[in-house]
This record gives sequence, structure tokens and C-alpha cells, in this order.
Amino acid sequence: MDNLNAQARDEYREPTAEEILLDAASRFAAGKIAISFSGAEDVVLIDMAQRLGLNVGVFSLDTGRLHAETYRFIEDVRSHYGITIELLYPEAQGVQNLVREKGLFSFYKDGHNECCGVRKIAPLRRKLDTLDAWITGQRRDQSVTRTDVPFEQHDKAFSTASHSVTKFNPLAGWSSADVWAYIRKNEVPYNPLHDGGFISIGCEPCTRAVGPHEHERAGRWWWEEATQKECGLHAQNVITIISR
Ligand code: ADX
Ligand code: SF4
Repeated sequence: MDNLNAQARDEYREPTAEEILLDAASRFAAGKIAISFSGAEDVVLIDMAQRLGLNVGVFSLDTGRLHAETYRFIEDVRSHYGITIELLYPEAQGVQNLVREKGLFSFYKDGHNECCGVRKIAPLRRKLDTLDAWITGQRRDQSVTRTDVPFEQHDKAFSTASHSVTKFNPLAGWSSADVWAYIRKNEVPYNPLHDGGFISIGCEPCTRAVGPHEHERAGRWWWEEATQKECGLHAQNVITIISR
């Protein structure tokens, strides 16, 4: 009976992050699937992919506004694992137009969408046009906009009529504590900002350290509503909430 119960439990258990990564890498050709690395605790995905010997690319969106610590960390990860991390840049003209018209901190006045649109979403869209699948470090415990994040989804925000994009979220079921247990157990290098009270890390002007018992997303775009705290990278989460 015990064995039967164990078997039943096993059949209904959620797949592990490693299983999701292995499955993703087996279904998409090398060069058509990549990890989207923010320079924060999603380094776990890179560590796992390396341990599993997976042939998946890694890219980061360099918005030009990341912390100095994050740039150094991206470089540390590159040399630690001996991998290529493709840095994706916004188009100079778009940034120039925004800054000339509204200055360097327009997001504090009229929200982050315009700046994120130029510095993150447009470069991501150009990259995803060349891929069939991407892998993110989104977790359900991160915010009210992510409570339903699945392990795998058709990416409605970046697919087009002629090109389907699949999005994998292998860490969807992990808690922040799971991430940190993995990092410690496997001696994974991590962004030193985490030791200074930063939990969720994005661009420097839009990220701050959080205090005791504050939620990790309280340090991101803190002047905006929690339900609006998606920058378009994961726009699908907000679309889902609104249409519920
Ligand atoms: S964000 O949309 O609010 O900035 P968050 O920082 O929680 O996202 O990160 C969730 C996942 O989005 C990361 O694990 C990563 O896959 C992706 N991501 C976020 N920022 C970047 C970035 N600058 N470059 C590449 N991927 C990113
Ligand atoms: Fe701009 Fe802030 Fe978005 Fe970075 S997070 S792209 S600085 S609005």
C-alpha cells in the first residue's frame, strides 16, 4: 500500500526544474532556445543548464541602467561557467529620443512602460524573432501578477501569426527560499547586491533594497501599483489578470 501511495504521489508530482530544462532543450534546436538572464538569482538556471550539459544560449537585456554590481556579476558568470552571454542593446535612436524629450528619469513621473518599452521590450522582441523558445526565472511567489505562471506557455505577447514562441518557467514552483538553498548548496556565484538587502534586482533607478518583512517586489517600481509591476517582458501575466 505504501508503495502504491508513493507511486501515485510520483505520478501526480510536479516536474522538477531540471526535468523542465531537459525537456525544453530536447524539443528545440540549439540556437533556437535561450535562457533570459537578468543578472540576479536566476543564475540558478544557468548553473542547472551547465550541470545538465544543455546546449542552450544565454542572453541579457542591457538596458544601460543596470547597477555596476550587476555588470560585474554578468561578467563573473560568463567567466565562471566559460559561456557566452549575449548582451542585447536598445536602439540608440529610441533611447536618444526618449531622453531628449523627457530626461533620464521620466519613469518616476509617467510610469515605467515607455522606458522599459525602448530599453527592454524592443530588444527582447528582436531577439525572440530569431528564437522559438525562451527560458525565464519567473516564480509564482514573486508577485500578484505571477501567481498563475505555468511551467510552459505559448507566449502570446511575443508570438506572431507566422511565428510561435514558447516560454518555459522552470522555477515557477520554487520559493525564494528554494532558490537560495540551491545557490548555497551548489556554491553558485550570486550578485553581491543580494547581501545588501536587494532581493529582486532590475535597473538601478527602479530597484531598491527592501526592509524586514517587506515583499521582494516592494523594491521594484515602488511608486507604482503592485498589479502594474510587469514591464512588458512578462506582459502576458498582466493580460491574464485583466481578462480573468
Ligand atoms: S521584470 O520583468 O520584473 O524585470 P524579474 O526581474 O522579476 O522581471 O525577472 C524575471 C525573469 O525575467 C528573469 O528571471 C529573467 O528570465 C527575465 N529578465 C528580467 N530582466 C531581464 C534582463 N535584464 N535581461 C534578461 N532577462 C531578464
Ligand atoms: Fe527604464 Fe526603469 Fe524600465 Fe529600466 S526598469 S528600462 S530604467 S523604466
